[in-house]
Amino acid sequence: MKILVTGSTGQLGTDLVRCLGTLSLASESHEIIGATRKELDITNNEKALEYFKKHSYDAVINAAAYTNVDKCETDFDNVFLVNAIGPRNLAIASYKYGFKLIHISTDYVFDGKNPEGYYEFDQPNPINKYAITKFAGEEYVKRHCTQYFIIRTSWLYGKHGKNFVKTMLTLSESRDEIKVVNDQTGSPTFSEDLVDFISRIITTEKYGIYHFSNSGSCTWHEFAKEIFKITNKVITVHPISTEEFNAPAPRPQYSILNNYMAKLEFNHESRHWKEALEYFLIKNTN
Ligand SMILES: NC(=O)c1ccc[n+]([C@@H]2O[C@H](COP(=O)([O-])OP(=O)(O)OC[C@H]3O[C@@H](n4cnc5c(N)ncnc54)[C@H](OP(=O)(O)O)[C@@H]3O)[C@@H](O)[C@H]2O)c1
Repeated sequence: MKILVTGSTGQLGTDLVRCLGTLSLASESHEIIGATRKELDITNNEKALEYFKKHSYDAVINAAAYTNVDKCETDFDNVFLVNAIGPRNLAIASYKYGFKLIHISTDYVFDGKNPEGYYEFDQPNPINKYAITKFAGEEYVKRHCTQYFIIRTSWLYGKHGKNFVKTMLTLSESRDEIKVVNDQTGSPTFSEDLVDFISRIITTEKYGIYHFSNSGSCTWHEFAKEIFKITNKVITVHPISTEEFNAPAPRPQYSILNNYMAKLEFNHESRHWKEALEYFLIKNTN
């Protein structure tokens, strides 16, 4: 397959370009092309359609997004353009030019009131501006094309870009103690595991909404403690409440994803988040 990755300079985009070809089965040779924001600004409808008129792909993975959740609260027009209009433009092009669209979304589309976790068929109810635009993006994709996979993931980390794991490790270089929120629960997800899952679904026609995270769940505080345990860092991690942390954007209290469709359609069981984290941290330090 010839596959385009939008947002190719981002955390997930970089891993998709780097790993998707190598993770795929030997019998499936894919050509992976990354597009930066400069090469393909997904918010511009005319330019996006012009781009796909010139270049032909079997699939497009939309890893482009406005992901600074707190900044989203005060920059709504720009956020809506990237997270909602962008996927709409790609969906229109998918329908017009016949490529599969793999659109990445988020656990934050849910309100986080259900401690049991969320299924693909549960009703979203976004509680912050970022989540409102991500949910609108999903709706546009469903409305404007047919060959789509919407993959909701959560608490993503990997080698590239900014993420919680890297922030914790950086803080541990200069501090003896830190405060981390202990009343939000979710499932950390290693980006390479997500890339592996995408490599499994992209060749199929099992379209629809998928949840994908590593299995198990934790609070941010438990996540931080595990990072320091694996890396043998001596640092005191104080649990604090969301209220005490006082971030501009509200966050879902529980945003655990049940990977129901991945199991049902692909018999895929994600490894536990602690196992994936250890793999990431040990592999990275070698
Ligand atoms: N990070 C998480 O914890 C998390 C959790 C759940 C879901 N997700 C979802 O996972 C996906 C990937 O997230 P990520 O962490 O890899 O994000 P990221 O590191 O912030 O990367 C976003 C990418 O989008 C690009 N971009 C922004 N505006 C664009 C535009 N108008 N046209 C084209 N490209 C544009 C950025 O380019 P520039 O660098 O040039 O701005 C960057 O390459 C997103 O859909 C996100 O919503 C992330």
